[in-house]
Amino acid sequence: MIDSGQCDRAGRRVTLRPVDDDNWRAVADIAPRDDQRTFVPALAARYLVLTMRSDVWTSLAVHADETVVGHVMWGVDDDGSRWIGGMVIDAAEQDRGVGRAAVKTLTDWLAKAGQPIRLSYHPDNTSAAALYTSLGFHPTGAMEDDELIAELTPAPPR
Ligand SMILES: CC(C)(COP(=O)(O)OP(=O)(O)OC[C@H]1O[C@@H](n2cnc3c(N)ncnc32)[C@H](O)[C@@H]1OP(=O)(O)O)[C@@H](O)C(=O)NCCC(=O)NCCS
Repeated sequence: MIDSGQCDRAGRRVTLRPVDDDNWRAVADIAPRDDQRTFVPALAARYLVLTMRSDVWTSLAVHADETVVGHVMWGVDDDGSRWIGGMVIDAAEQDRGVGRAAVKTLTDWLAKAGQPIRLSYHPDNTSAAALYTSLGFHPTGAMEDDELIAELTPAPPR
């Protein structure tokens, strides 16, 4: 379990947990709002299949206390940079501070490697852009398919 002490606005503890025998069905059923399906698949099940078929990506379940509320995945690129992808908070759980807590938890954990952390988002995805920018990600100017690549550079250890 990855727990950096983050809570949503209702005070629920937000943690990232392995996808396991107990939670995989709930993770697979995570669904964005209909209007967000231009940015992400209709179900997080697509990401679970991707991570099962990939040597790069690892899926995590986003929990708020004991409830599964989202999916996120992380990976390591050839240059050592860390990547975040597959960020989806279930439609019924959005706008409660879960996404912010989940991304902060993952970036705090990935930053321990001392490598840049990268992700990509569609230029029209204003919610994602606002979230990532507020956490310190800045566009690199590079694109991946039709998405902007943004990067967070971890502070050097003191
Ligand atoms: C983007 C997403 C993960 C945010 O998750 P969330 O739990 O709703 O976000 P939070 O409630 O923690 O809000 C975090 C920030 O996101 C932004 N945000 C969230 N909802 C927003 C909205 N409707 N309009 C504009 N900004 C919004 C704000 O900057 C917000 O900042 P705040 O904490 O100061 O309010 C969620 O909307 C989602 O799953 N979207 C569909 C999938 C997707 O687009 N994933 C990203 C792919 S790159």
